Amino acid sequence: MLSNRKRSHRKRKKEIWKQLRLLVFAIGLILLFIIIDSVMVSTIPYFKFPSKELQDNKRRLIQEEIGNIMYGRLLSLASSSLTKNNTAAGQFSFLEESAGQTIEWTPCADKPNNADQGQEKKHNGYILVSANGGLNQQRVAVCNAVAIASLLNATLVLPKFLYSSVWKDTSQFGDIYQEEYFLDYLKYDVNIVKELPPHLQAIDVEAIGSQITDMEIMKEAMPSYYIEAILPILQRNGIVHFLGFGNRLGFDPLPPHLQRLRCKCNFHALKFVPKIQKLGSMLVQRIRKHKSKLTEIDKQLFGKYTPNYELAIRNRNLNRPVKYLALHMRFEVDMVAYSLCDFGGGQRERQELQMYREEHFPTLITRIQNISIYPEELRVSGKCPLTPEEAALMLSALGYTSDTYIYLAGSHIYGGLSRLQPFMQLFPNVVTKEDLLSPEELEPFKNFSSQLAALDFIACASSDVFAMTDTGSQLSSLVTGYRIYHGQGQATTLRPNKKRFARILTEHADIDWGEFQKRVQNMIEENQGVTPRGRGRSVYRLPRTPGCMCKTR
Ligand SMILES: *[C@@H]1O[C@H](CO)[C@@H](O)[C@H](O)[C@H]1NC(C)=O
Ligand SMILES: *[C@@H]1O[C@H](CO)[C@@H](O)[C@H](O)[C@H]1NC(C)=O
Ligand SMILES: *[C@@H]1O[C@H](CO)[C@@H](O)[C@H](O)[C@H]1NC(C)=O
Ligand SMILES: *[C@@H]1O[C@H](CO)[C@@H](O)[C@H](O)[C@H]1NC(C)=O
Repeated sequence: MLSNRKRSHRKRKKEIWKQLRLLVFAIGLILLFIIIDSVMVSTIPYFKFPSKELQDNKRRLIQEEIGNIMYGRLLSLASSSLTKNNTAAGQFSFLEESAGQTIEWTPCADKPNNADQGQEKKHNGYILVSANGGLNQQRVAVCNAVAIASLLNATLVLPKFLYSSVWKDTSQFGDIYQEEYFLDYLKYDVNIVKELPPHLQAIDVEAIGSQITDMEIMKEAMPSYYIEAILPILQRNGIVHFLGFGNRLGFDPLPPHLQRLRCKCNFHALKFVPKIQKLGSMLVQRIRKHKSKLTEIDKQLFGKYTPNYELAIRNRNLNRPVKYLALHMRFEVDMVAYSLCDFGGGQRERQELQMYREEHFPTLITRIQNISIYPEELRVSGKCPLTPEEAALMLSALGYTSDTYIYLAGSHIYGGLSRLQPFMQLFPNVVTKEDLLSPEELEPFKNFSSQLAALDFIACASSDVFAMTDTGSQLSSLVTGYRIYHGQGQATTLRPNKKRFARILTEHADIDWGEFQKRVQNMIEENQGVTPRGRGRSVYRLPRTPGCMCKTR
């Protein structure tokens, strides 16, 4: 928990800040012109503005700086609207009323697979998978591999997880998911074994041409590709090894039984190991201050570590469950640097991000060598990750107040605590897993980023409201799907439209708070519909699709 000392310190600072605000604003205006000048100079070596466009760019840069002041203005509008109207009640009702209608979609991916039962399957060989990426990419790879094994009538060897220099985690399948449960749950759907039979173990898979890397498979490839290109190799060699296997199976067209199998794998067969369930359950109980409420999602996530329901019922009148909002704030340095956007930190920030790109993204540097990059255009077109300030504005526009409990998922916010300052001024009740779990409790997880990520997955999935800043992130996408599938229409998810949000933030410099709120609320509501999955969309994110969820009326 954030310490009282810090909190009172912030309060004091806020007082001083109030008094200084006018003065700062005046000085700011003067500084602004100096800054713009230096920005112009410092930008040239990085983004190579052609000189005839200099005037245009100068205008854009001025607009950009005004944008930064506007955030300051909006943030203080948000702040005063919160203090004037600090009513705790009703804040969580936003968007929840419409939830009832989602009940017509119910989970149905776990129906027994009658079609295949008792039928002796042709056996075409073994499929090995070494999945790359972090926890959530690997989860998708596992379930795609299950579908491919079924498609090719092959036996799947329990997937391996590749070690990567980014994630620095040696965890294997059995360190994260319950192996026996997984094998048992899918036993009528697809053959899965823990290891290759001994006579195949010595084979040099690469030498016989059975190793298939991500470079060789199209992203989101279709079943026909696997039948035409992979099946012959499998039949010839009896074995195929997919190395990487990130996002290599598309979503449409796909036979319904394979779609169902992916959902069955993702929403039912993959259970976290007891070690993760136990600490995850403890984490969520602490966020809720032990006033547990029991949801289907909790049962799915925690298994035998689900908090005692009877006790919760008995205590209900004494302890109203504490509701919380989980926010996945994707603002790590890698993403910030890769976006090529500006985040208001001036030349120091630009240099820092440029150095990061030179070290970590040399191909990006080469690719943009001869291209002019206009960070302010990237921002207006919604290509920049939301900053913590923007996340704060989104949440306060939606009516969340300073007494909202917020669980913050994601690690290493670029710019650290100081970058989070405006966010925490509006939302002081922010907690992370590091605040709620002791170093001793976290010790067994410390060296395993995937297992830590599993705790974030759990806290986000179990929340009353889940909000994200990046709609493209795999964690946000899987959590969204999990909440649709198991949430019984009660699990609200807030998904910004970055392009629209950027427009709302930049279009009218003098937008008033009420207008701002209305436009942000409209933006979120438009993403809120209970529509079936669209063609080509992920079944993991949008499970309302035949074979996965079923319409009951
Ligand atoms: C406070 O909330 C009430 C009702 O929700 C609203 O009518 C009023 O305009 C709000 N006041 C301010 C200052 O935002
Ligand atoms: C897999 O087995 C089923 C049923 O035995 C058969 O209909 C199908 O053609 C087989 N597919 C492949 C790729 O072997
Ligand atoms: C950039 O331009 C230079 C000179 O015109 C050229 O030699 C180089 O190949 C170009 N680089 C890319 C990535 O296009
Ligand atoms: C984590 O890694 C450090 C350094 O590599 C090692 O000293 C420590 O024992 C490891 N902790 C666990 C729980 O594996």
